[in-house]
Amino acid sequence: MNGDTQKIGNITFENTSLPDLIEMKGIRKVFGKGKTATTVIEGLNYLMEDLPDKLQLDILMGPSGCGKTTVLNMLADIETPTEGEILFKGQSRTPDDIVPIVFQKYGSLPNLTVLKNVELGISFREFSRLPDKERTERAMAMIEAVGLAGHEHKYLSKLSGGQQQRVAIARSLISLPLTVILDEPFSGLDRGTKLEMRDLLQDIGMRMQASIIFVTHDPYEAVFLGQRIFIMDGGPGRIVKRFDVPFDYPRGPDVIHDRRYTELVAEVDEFIIGLDQKRKARAAKQ
Ligand SMILES: Nc1ncnc2c1ncn2[C@@H]1O[C@H](COP(=O)(O)OP(=O)(O)OP(=O)(O)O)[C@@H](O)[C@H]1O
Ligand SMILES: [Mg+2]
Repeated sequence: MNGDTQKIGNITFENTSLPDLIEMKGIRKVFGKGKTATTVIEGLNYLMEDLPDKLQLDILMGPSGCGKTTVLNMLADIETPTEGEILFKGQSRTPDDIVPIVFQKYGSLPNLTVLKNVELGISFREFSRLPDKERTERAMAMIEAVGLAGHEHKYLSKLSGGQQQRVAIARSLISLPLTVILDEPFSGLDRGTKLEMRDLLQDIGMRMQASIIFVTHDPYEAVFLGQRIFIMDGGPGRIVKRFDVPFDYPRGPDVIHDRRYTELVAEVDEFIIGLDQKRKARAAKQ
């Protein structure tokens, strides 16, 4: 969207005519130096457009080791690209471009309470500016949103896996970030909890008009949650395919009975199996 101001969630951007929210351009990532140098990502381009007032949820899939986590780490500024650039709203990263990550293994602090864990998600700049009371109020609102009201004074170590993952989500969303990354966040959870979390993510994502990048190995989860599904292949890692999902949010349980859902799940699954088979054939030749 072009114009003088634009709004995403509660955040207003001024004087920008730049339409792109996140762009990765010509990314190459090499780990190691000299003889041990390995190119893990090569020629990777990705763009998530700025569609205000809407949940955007992109899925990243691909064989183990193809570089998904490396891509996310570069977006979150945990790793730096060897070549290429990452732009936020058309500009280089500034300290305000915080991209929180929710990992598979919760990543919260077991010896702190739910409330403290969520408060720690408030960005450093805001944290020092907000009075204690407001900080707590904001954290409590987030705790309520993820369905943990009443648990705020419990220690993380006393919560179930699903509850801990709710804390991680609350913490990652509390600063109303432009973008949130979830790296296989539900893969350690049982099926019932996983389905609950899927609905929760959609619900909060819609309320916050968030932009979410979500890694999964599960084609059912990918098609249920995703708006676009990007498939990466390894050796070196790059995006090789994109699927578009034809459903609007919110998606209810009926979606899985839609023929387009089952067909797309099968298509995504077959594509990934195909990549695995090609990789095995290549390895056998070597
Ligand atoms: N810090 C590092 N130093 C050296 N090599 C690394 C480093 N981090 C990742 N790699 C290598 O980069 C490749 C991509 O790893 P990455 O973790 O991004 O894969 P992934 O697609 O997330 O895999 P999975 O699905 O198993 O999580 C792997 O071969 C891995 O060994
Ligand atoms: Mg990974």
